[in-house]
Amino acid sequence: MITAVQRSSAKSSKALVTGEFEFSAADFAAIAEIAKSEAGIDLPESKATLVYSRLAKRLRALGLGTFAEYCSTVRENESERGSMIAALTTNVTRFFREPHHFDHLRKAILEPLADHVRSGGRLRLWSAACSTGQEPYSMALTVLSVFPDAAERDIRILATDLNPHVVAHGKKGQYRKEELAEIPKDMRTKWLEPVPGDTGSMRVCDTARSLVSFRELNLMGSWPFKGPFNAIFCRNVVIYFDRDTQAMIWRRLSNMIEDGGALYIGHSERVSGPATNSLQADGITSYRKKAGLPQ
Ligand SMILES: C[S@@+](CC[C@H](N)C(=O)[O-])C[C@H]1O[C@@H](n2cnc3c(N)ncnc32)[C@H](O)[C@@H]1O
Repeated sequence: MITAVQRSSAKSSKALVTGEFEFSAADFAAIAEIAKSEAGIDLPESKATLVYSRLAKRLRALGLGTFAEYCSTVRENESERGSMIAALTTNVTRFFREPHHFDHLRKAILEPLADHVRSGGRLRLWSAACSTGQEPYSMALTVLSVFPDAAERDIRILATDLNPHVVAHGKKGQYRKEELAEIPKDMRTKWLEPVPGDTGSMRVCDTARSLVSFRELNLMGSWPFKGPFNAIFCRNVVIYFDRDTQAMIWRRLSNMIEDGGALYIGHSERVSGPATNSLQADGITSYRKKAGLPQ
């Protein structure tokens, strides 16, 4: 006779995706639970095939035969948990992705703050899921278009991501020439420089790089800085999170924005939850923090 427990364990040990490695519903549930608790990533079972294909290369790299073995490895090994999260997320990004955000940043935030900054006032920007750095450097080049002497002003751009590999790439600031095509030509000529011995790449010059500080940061953890920021870019990351987590992140971001400051989000994202009381839509996927509201 089969008991309920046996029935449920028979169901959970049934292959969810068939392929080179055994991958059961129980393995999927274990991976989804770790992804959620580590990085806020929401994985419905409809993503099983995607999860399988993204993680199969990790099993091959580690010489493992089943997802059950992989789950044990991930539970015991913090570094593999990081590799798992990196494999499950995408780092796709571009210079001046959604160019209207950079126009908004220049016209609505930077230019109105010109006198404040030129008389010694601070300007703080944050790229909250910066991937390999194209977003914060696009912010830096926009800043330099308004303040060519930005490096001598109290201007800082914080660039954070949970994946240490993309953060290291961003710090280096070196990109293939094909990737640079979307940078306006005058900015490219002014702020990018050749890389000795590598004719296929260019590097963001020291002045622009000096404006940006790259740090590892998981948006689900604590944020060890106070802000407030004049503008935050948090684009194409909360799409991984469930609705409650998204609302929580919008609220925390809103609390980090200066009155009148801006939040820029991804093209398929919308601010939701309590943050809708303090953030007002101001253009395509751009929001402004209303003045005078309690945090
Ligand atoms: C698609 S990229 C977006 C890059 C850039 N913001 C853009 O829109 O072009 C998403 C980035 O979010 C990062 N990410 C995913 N979950 C995160 C989390 N919990 N905390 C911080 N970064 C996270 C990934 O590592 C990845 O680099």
